[in-house]
Amino acid sequence: MAEQLVFPAGFLWGVAGAAHQVEGGNINSDSWVLEHIPNSPFTEPSGDACDHYHRYPEDIAQIAALGFNTYRFSIEWARIEPEEGEFSTAALDHYRRMLAACHEHGLTPIVTYHHFTSPRWFAARGGWESAANAEYFARYCARATAHLGDLIGAACTLNEPNVGLLIQQIGHMPPDDMMAQAPYRAAAARAVGSDTFAAFPYCRQELARDTFLQAHRLAVAAIKAGPGNFPVGLTLAMSDHQAVPGGEATRDRVRRAVDDVFLDAARDDDFIGVQTYSRARYDAAGTLPPEEGVELTQMGYEFWPEALEATIRYAAAYTSRPVLVTENGIGTEDDTRRIEYVRRALRGVHRCLEDGIVVRGYCYWSVFDNFEWAMGYRPKFGLIAVDRTTQQRAPKPSAAWLGGIARANMLTA
Ligand code: BGC
Repeated sequence: MAEQLVFPAGFLWGVAGAAHQVEGGNINSDSWVLEHIPNSPFTEPSGDACDHYHRYPEDIAQIAALGFNTYRFSIEWARIEPEEGEFSTAALDHYRRMLAACHEHGLTPIVTYHHFTSPRWFAARGGWESAANAEYFARYCARATAHLGDLIGAACTLNEPNVGLLIQQIGHMPPDDMMAQAPYRAAAARAVGSDTFAAFPYCRQELARDTFLQAHRLAVAAIKAGPGNFPVGLTLAMSDHQAVPGGEATRDRVRRAVDDVFLDAARDDDFIGVQTYSRARYDAAGTLPPEEGVELTQMGYEFWPEALEATIRYAAAYTSRPVLVTENGIGTEDDTRRIEYVRRALRGVHRCLEDGIVVRGYCYWSVFDNFEWAMGYRPKFGLIAVDRTTQQRAPKPSAAWLGGIARANMLTA
């Protein structure tokens, strides 16, 4: 008999995306600037992306029809506050309509207030590198919450403020390092008519870290003060940090710098947003590359779905807070490997639940094949393929498979 793994009643089964990666035409963002500077290391610009800005009604209907009960998406600061202090009611109304569409289709909307991109004016003022700029973020959170809060199901203040530190340690996305270098920054600054430009995650991480920690604190207070009464948390890029014999001290040092300082800041939050893709291994000298012959994903890191269980356990033990898996997924052309990856990841989630760890839900990254930052549209994380000429959507077998699990609230292993 096949084993049936039942999930708790009310478990959130979601798909995730982020404004810049799917909406298209996010021309007022810092990323758009970087995508268009001379010799940009971005392999291609984001362009129209999946035109989700206009197609959200059909997209939200499709997510619900597949069987999911949750949609995690981000609202775009660059649209909501196009110039410093100038707020767009039209942009806020757009996100209000998206939230209403989620409710119409029975989806709990999880809103991320910041998913990597910021307005040009913010980057031109030093962006996340400047401690004083945390206040701008808090003001934007207050304004957005005042307009949207009554419809929000759960909120993430910041998406992966630690991802740059993680990348530095494990080198997942090499072009990101290049972007932090002086010539690119100077070109971007020229493009916005400033003498400085800092865009996350392509910036000085230690400075950004301190601004983010402050911004998160201020944002939680701003969001909690607004209308609505929903859980608020922080999402983190979490890798399953493993030591080979002798590598324990290196692993602990990396964990302290990349995870613990942020988990410390999230101790009073309603949940920890765990976002996990793979593992990293350490010896006494540093980070080890994946072993010869192991399966790699399109991102170049190891196919290691068990990482999710390890990171949930770590975050829950460290903070004693409930966990929400706000991202987990795989970039692959082979949809059968996606199903295998998610199946193994979900078995790990279930083992955590069996041990009494509170896990509120699981959001697959990503709903669509979308703009994978510096790597452009090549990596395929989506449950749904998108023809970028016609914008036609084509759900993959994994979409029906995972939607079926969501509907049944059960994995048949
Ligand atoms: C980010 C996403 C990204 C995904 C896959 C996460 O680090 O939040 O924006 O597309 O990983 O690389």
